[in-house]
Amino acid sequence: MMVQRSFAGKLDPDDVVRSVKTSARLNIDSEIFRQSFDHEPFGFTHNLSSLDLFSYDSLLGLAESFHGSPRDYFIAGSALSPGTQFYSVPNGGMRPREALENLDRVRCRVLLKRPEDHNARFRDLLETLFQQVVDLWGGLGNERVERLESAILISSCSTTTPVHFDPEIGFFSQIEGEKFYHVYPPACSSEAELERFYIRGRVDIGSVDIKGLDPAREHVFTLGPGRGLHQPQNAPHWVQTGRSRSVSYTFVFQTDASYTRGRTRAFNYCLRRFGLSPSRLGEHAGLDAAKASAMRAAAPIQFTGRVYNKARRVLAGRRLSRS
Ligand SMILES: [Fe+2]
Repeated sequence: MMVQRSFAGKLDPDDVVRSVKTSARLNIDSEIFRQSFDHEPFGFTHNLSSLDLFSYDSLLGLAESFHGSPRDYFIAGSALSPGTQFYSVPNGGMRPREALENLDRVRCRVLLKRPEDHNARFRDLLETLFQQVVDLWGGLGNERVERLESAILISSCSTTTPVHFDPEIGFFSQIEGEKFYHVYPPACSSEAELERFYIRGRVDIGSVDIKGLDPAREHVFTLGPGRGLHQPQNAPHWVQTGRSRSVSYTFVFQTDASYTRGRTRAFNYCLRRFGLSPSRLGEHAGLDAAKASAMRAAAPIQFTGRVYNKARRVLAGRRLSRS
């Protein structure tokens, strides 16, 4: 990053914030975005690897700031295979800085959640990049952002993250090292898997049976510094790191429309439990809305993730018209 330094060699905080806002960039083809956003994965390039807030020294300091916030990090070992059950992999036992300092000796994956809550420069980065996506989208239309947050993933070499899906729309950027990212369109997830997930009403990962995924629809992205990918909501994926440690940054978001789809699926889950065969989400818009309303009244979704209020205020309140 082109961090401007004062003559004394100290960082000027205003310059640092300005430099993140002006230089961080995702290079996404607008036509590919228009064709594929939120239903087919696609790759892009970015310049985040050059930002000094991702230097390993900076990350060590950031990791230490997470020690008092155990809900904000997750440390796990490598899965034996991509089809391993996600939470069957041993996890915990170390604090983030300790894990980062021992990546060469202890094979593990460190997830630092919501760095924007720990460091204002990551808040600026998140706002900057999300605005770029909103601009590509042509504004938010009538949708309101309910959740927007980022994460940093730091992993040892040769680790495997088992298959799962996430209930958010994501933009994933590789900062350091190599990653082999296997991702499928969300249409590859079964309705039964999705309904089973959304009835739980939690921010979490969704379970996927890897044997049910169509290999013909798999995208494999070989990511290095400066490369990234868009991951649609509910897109099954599994990931392996290469021969050196890996640092990645991702940001994800959900809108009120995606919450509504989740509630419709939760309602369908209940119908199936009563032995009925519900119409598939998207077949009858009015019925979908009625199901979501009923579900909202019966069991409001309690999301444990913190709503990113500033972005919600700044971005969601705009009601921009979508092109
Ligand atoms: Fe994921």
